[in-house]
Amino acid sequence: MRVNGFPLKLLLISSLVIGLSLILFSFLLIPEIKNNFQKNFGVYEKISLSKGLISTDNEQISYEPFIQSVLSCTFPDPQIEVPDEEELDLIINKQVKLQDNYVPSDLVPLSQYGIPTDGTIMLREKSALALSQMHKEISQKGIRIRINSGYRDFATQQDAYNYWVRAVGKVKGETFAAPVGGSEHHLGTTIDIVSSENNYKLLPTYTSTKLYNYLITNAHLYGFTMSYPKGKESITGYNFEPWHYRYVGTPLATYLYEHNLTLTEYMYQLNNYCLLSY
Ligand code: DAL
Ligand code: ZN
Repeated sequence: MRVNGFPLKLLLISSLVIGLSLILFSFLLIPEIKNNFQKNFGVYEKISLSKGLISTDNEQISYEPFIQSVLSCTFPDPQIEVPDEEELDLIINKQVKLQDNYVPSDLVPLSQYGIPTDGTIMLREKSALALSQMHKEISQKGIRIRINSGYRDFATQQDAYNYWVRAVGKVKGETFAAPVGGSEHHLGTTIDIVSSENNYKLLPTYTSTKLYNYLITNAHLYGFTMSYPKGKESITGYNFEPWHYRYVGTPLATYLYEHNLTLTEYMYQLNNYCLLSY
């Protein structure tokens, strides 16, 4: 059979080749489609979205959000204005950075709350108060903590970034330290917390401490969430940092804990942002 003078078989084969080429082209040349396919396939197997809130549902697997995400996800604004002081769930990462030299308005020194620190360390007031309450309970368990880092200005983050890039090279260094403007430490709601059990070190031995075990089961009750958990490195873009906790308030921290979500996953799904794979 012929269509407009062309053999039908030839037409069908040509259409197939063109179609397959287009799919291949999308995967190779449009990174967000490729990234989303890789990333979201796993994530959305377990998660379905309902009414804008995320609910895990292992029985009912919904691919609708996955398809929707691949086709219509958008990218968050790469630079954010000075955040609303109450905005505890602000996205800040390798993709989204704060505008130059943002300084939170209500920073207080942790010494004011009797929290041991390495030098002068400040946090925003609500985060400091929540930390002081958590510190009381941790002390009652006989664990001696120290806050190794809290609010960081842009210059301090530049030093941390330069240190890691010089030490292990750019690609690896960027899995240890955030770029300037892109660190949660700029928010004044984030801490690196250590204990005497492993000599106040930020090392893998941290996971054998009582502090680690306390935090992974209780930090959310005080409003803190671990930003860079094990197994989510390709989502966060950072190595497992069991000492790095961010204050987001108790309701959200509890929600994230109960659903095994990082703030990044939660916020990206809520806003239908394209989730990149690192
Ligand atoms: N170490 C974390 C990623 C930071 O630099 O903020
Ligand atoms: Zn940190």
